[in-house]
Amino acid sequence: MPGVVVKSIAVINQKGGVGKTTTTVNLGAGLAHRGARVLLLDMDPQANMTLHLDRQPELETPTMTHLLVDTRPLEAVILPTAIDNLFMVPADTSLSGVEQVLANRIGRETILREAFEDYHGTPFDFVIVDCPPALGVLSANALVAVDQVIIPMQAEYFSLQGMTKLMEVMELVKRRLNPSLDLLMILPCMVNPRTNLSSEVLAELREHFGQALARTSVRSNVKLAEAPSFGVSIFEHAPDSNGAADYRAVTAEFLQRQGLEPAPAEEVPAAEPLAAETTPPQATTTQATTTEAADSEPADSAAPPAQDALDESAADGITESSPAETTTRVSGPAPADRTTAVESHENAGERHHAAEG
Ligand SMILES: Nc1ncnc2c1ncn2[C@@H]1O[C@H](COP(=O)(O)OP(=O)(O)O)[C@@H](O)[C@H]1O
Ligand SMILES: [Mg+2]
Repeated sequence: MPGVVVKSIAVINQKGGVGKTTTTVNLGAGLAHRGARVLLLDMDPQANMTLHLDRQPELETPTMTHLLVDTRPLEAVILPTAIDNLFMVPADTSLSGVEQVLANRIGRETILREAFEDYHGTPFDFVIVDCPPALGVLSANALVAVDQVIIPMQAEYFSLQGMTKLMEVMELVKRRLNPSLDLLMILPCMVNPRTNLSSEVLAELREHFGQALARTSVRSNVKLAEAPSFGVSIFEHAPDSNGAADYRAVTAEFLQRQGLEPAPAEEVPAAEPLAAETTPPQATTTQATTTEAADSEPADSAAPPAQDALDESAADGITESSPAETTTRVSGPAPADRTTAVESHENAGERHHAAEG
């Protein structure tokens, strides 16, 4: 059996600027530095992830568009990156036309999943998909193909806006096309531990999402914003920065939630089934693993008023017209031996200084 894509994860939020691309690149690099073989897929026509990894696709470079429109096999569109163990499928602006091109194509939501199923190259431990800031065909392809979802959120008021819609879309995909889709974690990004605002919003998120809220949060850190212009991850750009520390912690929590690394003292929730009950799960008081980020985690500060402005409109547009027949998934549970590739060495980042420029 192929089993070549062991775990696939979509990093999704239809809001722009919440940390999707930053999380995709630095979680991917964090896993790669720890010995996992990782593939990153750029599903955003803005191609920020591609540029972040210092890849300016040339005219003849195969991209995500070739995979989705010309059904070119996954093997044919994978490129190496400057980081060992880290590979990518780049995007370019042509991806923005894909929505239109696929509009009338039957089975347009299952193209990426089929590409995963048909992949017979060297196995990957993790495939991480960087989604565009929209819930269209591209995001649908990601949600239908992956096992798990990470939702980066900015810790600011109104950050819950749009979440209901996203949850509904995920529910719909789970019901119709991808029954095993799980919510792995909701990751607060760009947190400023010194403001009450961040603390209050984090408390609200915890109340709303319970265990699904990551114990780790990513602080605002200018080094994270700089790294893309150097074409490297935070671990090459500034291995001693708070940004690197936080994404190291994100990587650790990711592995813990996969059951691949021992949990800290308190129990670590496994990937949650997308129950999407509208009743908020119980608030938890788990501590942040990131030491300094811990001060941004209020124990029980009063939550701001509930967001009544949540977008309650039904999930429409992305999967309503999808064909009922779905193929059986092939990317089953991880072969046990692949998981051993994830070794633990804390400062692996330093081994991988990329060439400048
Ligand atoms: N923790 C952070 N601290 C400071 N800047 C950040 C942080 N995370 C992301 N950024 C910056 O914020 C902008 C938006 O982040 P990005 O990851 O591109 O969001 P998205 O992919 O959701 O649109 C980028 O310029 C990025 O470099
Ligand atoms: Mg992005």
